[in-house]
Amino acid sequence: MPTRVLFVCLGNICRSPLGEGIFRHLVDEAGLDADFEIDSAGTGHWHVGSPPDPRARDVARRNGVDVESLRGRQVSSDDFRRFDHILAMDRQNLDELLRRRPADADADVRLLRAHDPEGGDDVPDPYYGGRSGFDDVYTMIERCCRSLLGTLRSGAS
Ligand code: 4NP
Repeated sequence: MPTRVLFVCLGNICRSPLGEGIFRHLVDEAGLDADFEIDSAGTGHWHVGSPPDPRARDVARRNGVDVESLRGRQVSSDDFRRFDHILAMDRQNLDELLRRRPADADADVRLLRAHDPEGGDDVPDPYYGGRSGFDDVYTMIERCCRSLLGTLRSGAS
């Protein structure tokens, strides 16, 4: 059975597509693609069907990560049953996920930065900032994804 991992932010056009793309890239590099199912979603509905933000596509491309085919979708109650690990980009989205989680679902829901070896809380929302915000967010998400993969490979969670 693959380990199913879902990255969640607000719009599903900036942070969580980067999480999905970066984590998939690391999993591919490690030759583990058969062992993981990876997706992303937003708690909001505004960008359903939209490609990632051009600034997220740009920072991904510059780092050799492909997010071009991703399209925004909203978190569904089925996601809480389907995914083993749901990683929220910030506390606002974590609270929203915990509020929406059905009682019979056993997905592990936590902050992505719970896996940050440097510690920290939120992956800040870069939407209303400039390009450098996307570089900072990319670095942070990549650091967390490397650590997450190490943890999941070792069987601990
Ligand atoms: P994301 O960024 O949650 O990282 O995808 C945002 C994208 C869109 C909006 C807010 C945050 N928005 O308000 O439309």
